[in-house]
Amino acid sequence: MRIDPFSLTTPQVAASILSARFERLSDEIDEVLQGGADFLHLDIMDGHFVPNISFGPAVTAASRRSTDCYLDAHLMITDPLKYAPPLVKAGASGITFHVEAAEHHGGAVAVAREIRKLGVRVGITLNPPTPIERIYPALDEVDLVLIMSVNPGFSGQHFIPEALDKVRAVRPKLRANQRLEIDGGVKVDNIKSCRDAGVDWFVVASAIFDAPNRAATIGEMRGQLE
Ligand code: DX5
Ligand code: ZN
Repeated sequence: MRIDPFSLTTPQVAASILSARFERLSDEIDEVLQGGADFLHLDIMDGHFVPNISFGPAVTAASRRSTDCYLDAHLMITDPLKYAPPLVKAGASGITFHVEAAEHHGGAVAVAREIRKLGVRVGITLNPPTPIERIYPALDEVDLVLIMSVNPGFSGQHFIPEALDKVRAVRPKLRANQRLEIDGGVKVDNIKSCRDAGVDWFVVASAIFDAPNRAATIGEMRGQLE
């Protein structure tokens, strides 16, 4: 892997390929990574846990053939344990599961331990209506906490400001080797408020991929983080 983002304490910008032009995915990946994104975020949706279908192992493998960067897979799927192994085989570096889905598969602690057996980083996340306390019993088992700042399913939605209350609540509970990520509606004009609340990693889809100059937009985001 090019760089393990867990080895860094500096803010990281993760480009979500959900807003990429899939007909030229490899070029899109090159452009955002050369433009300053640190790694890629892969939104895996099953049309059941969320009202949209995105992609799975095949596009994960295509992304892996395009780059050796960290691939941060976010599983918005009802059965994370069924699809984590093929996604890891396809090249995912980390697997983030939803606490709401874990409850049907033995609970968040059990799901986190099963994913860890695959030899990848483990993340936990929750939907905006889910109270932050629901993830606390599994905090010792994960490397990453992802706070959703939109209802998952689609890129291009508006940031839900209450997500920052969750960031502030969970930040003091994390160990130095754990990371805190936010996903949804992150833009140049709100990324600093996320950083100030305690976020380490920023997932961005539409604000990067729909920008007229992607590298310039990533640069503006980084400028807000200094
Ligand atoms: C939403 C996904 C996000 C999405 C973010 O379901 O989990 O990762 O790609 O898109 P933007 O940055 O456009 O809100
Ligand atoms: Zn995501």
